[in-house]
Amino acid sequence: MIRDEVLQVLEIQRGQLVSGGELSRHLNVSRTAIWKAITTLRKKGFDIESIPGEGYRLTEKNDVMTIPGIAMHQKSKIRIGTDLEILPEVTSTNTYLKETDTCKKIEGFTVVTPHQTSGRGRLGRTFYSNKGKGIYFSILLRPQIALEQISFITIMAAAAVADALEACCGFAPEIKWVNDIYKNEKKLCGILTEASIEGESGTVDSIILGIGINISFEGVELSPDLSSIVGSLSDFSSHLPLRNEILGTVLSYLDRYYTKLLEGRISEILEMYRKRLFFLGHTITVLQHGSSYPAIALAVDDSGHLLVEKEDGTRESLFSSEISIKL
Ligand code: BTN
Repeated sequence: MIRDEVLQVLEIQRGQLVSGGELSRHLNVSRTAIWKAITTLRKKGFDIESIPGEGYRLTEKNDVMTIPGIAMHQKSKIRIGTDLEILPEVTSTNTYLKETDTCKKIEGFTVVTPHQTSGRGRLGRTFYSNKGKGIYFSILLRPQIALEQISFITIMAAAAVADALEACCGFAPEIKWVNDIYKNEKKLCGILTEASIEGESGTVDSIILGIGINISFEGVELSPDLSSIVGSLSDFSSHLPLRNEILGTVLSYLDRYYTKLLEGRISEILEMYRKRLFFLGHTITVLQHGSSYPAIALAVDDSGHLLVEKEDGTRESLFSSEISIKL
């Protein structure tokens, strides 16, 4: 589509003026077609300036996610994010992928949106999405791993997202076992890993890895419940890059760390994950099947389980699927 091609040129030369004549020659279409494409892009929310007699420019502050804009920051693209789809709005990117005929999709196919109307969290919870001020995406994976190794996918993703955010946002995020990215006790990002299992063999058929990153809650009145728990990247960085750069960096780290996981380099991943855990040695509340008990968090073991010591001195190794912890 001409519109996408115009966008690609403007994105690559972001901040610079590109003349209508240059665009029309480069894309081999009329100047009227260029003008129509610019009008459509503006209607879609792209901030494109035009200076009569000089040309068009995609402004530096324009924060709409685009495929060429994300691609410019994807330094590693072996599997994850090789095929990307951006939706202006969707109920939930995980639900969307589940309902898509993924047989035809390559491993690493990623669907991204700036707004979810029914975002889902772990254990049937909802995940709040701030329209246009977050990055919500799901990735299709087909690792050949055993069912009990699924938590390594979440662990790999948490380490990759935290390392990527540190690289592009300039502060050091922390991890709350098993799947939350935190800073100063505020949750910045949630990860939901959903697997489909092959009935006969009980092996993992495919995995949908869903990730939601809060960029900003500016201008939003959060409920007291939510505001005591959630935070956003903009609370910790005054010079955030645009979402294209944040997502491109996150996808690159995920691609590299997922490759490590497929190569069996689990101990490397666990090492990167463990150094960001921020509650070890502290008393936490373990919530399981509607009941709760206090325990001291000791370590995350080599299986990705959380080792805790209860008040009576007994130790337990917690598996993530039905447990959550409160700090
Ligand atoms: C949690 O914190 O409990 C997990 C939250 C996961 C949220 C992401 S946003 C993208 C993807 N789509 C969803 O509906 N959920 C995940």
